Amino acid sequence: MSERKSIAARANYRETGASDRIEVHALQASVYGTGAAGVSEALISGPADTLSLVAELEEQIIGHILLTPIAGPERALALAPHAILPAWRDMQIGTELVRHALKLARDRNWRCVFVYGQPDYYCRFGFRSSTADCAEVIWQGPRFLALELEPAALAGWSGALEYPDAYLALAEAIHR
Ligand SMILES: CC(C)(COP(=O)(O)OP(=O)(O)OC[C@H]1O[C@@H](n2cnc3c(N)ncnc32)[C@H](O)[C@@H]1OP(=O)(O)O)[C@@H](O)C(=O)NCCC(=O)NCCS
Repeated sequence: MSERKSIAARANYRETGASDRIEVHALQASVYGTGAAGVSEALISGPADTLSLVAELEEQIIGHILLTPIAGPERALALAPHAILPAWRDMQIGTELVRHALKLARDRNWRCVFVYGQPDYYCRFGFRSSTADCAEVIWQGPRFLALELEPAALAGWSGALEYPDAYLALAEAIHR
């Protein structure tokens, strides 16, 4: 195993708790700005059943990922934000964080995940633009991707996805 990959193997991937609030906010603010960090925090602490995970190394939070429930197909999530601190990038930590988040989503019976992101990056987890074709959203296009956590979770479904207002504000802050 290369030294860079061994760092990803040493990191701890876990759900966030209340005591992580300040550190997660600081991480998101440093990567996406304070606007996105604030909305991200509102989503984590709000009533929605979000999945929020961090990558932690030697008691420092170095990565964070959030999945938020959306309305549309049964048990659907939207992935964003996903951020690794610059000093820890390209060490497979982002990859491991996504893998842990998707495993947790499967364990909690979520059926599909949508993301607006780099196809080159998210295709390694099975996300495909073609899988997202059934969904109508404002950010349609080749970067709009979906993954079925259960086989055929999206088979026979088509329609609009409805995102919480806080998520729309987050997407605007991230992608502006
Ligand atoms: C994107 C991000 C989360 C990836 O995390 P990471 O820990 O650096 O990535 P990993 O080490 O797991 O994966 C590295 C691989 O991803 C590729 N990669 C990294 N960022 C990428 C990007 N923006 N687009 C496409 N590929 C990317 C690298 O080239 C590398 O490829 P390889 O495995 O074929 O060598 C991280 O770079 C980041 O926080 N970026 C800024 C915020 C961002 O763009 N988030 C994604 C929003 S959709």
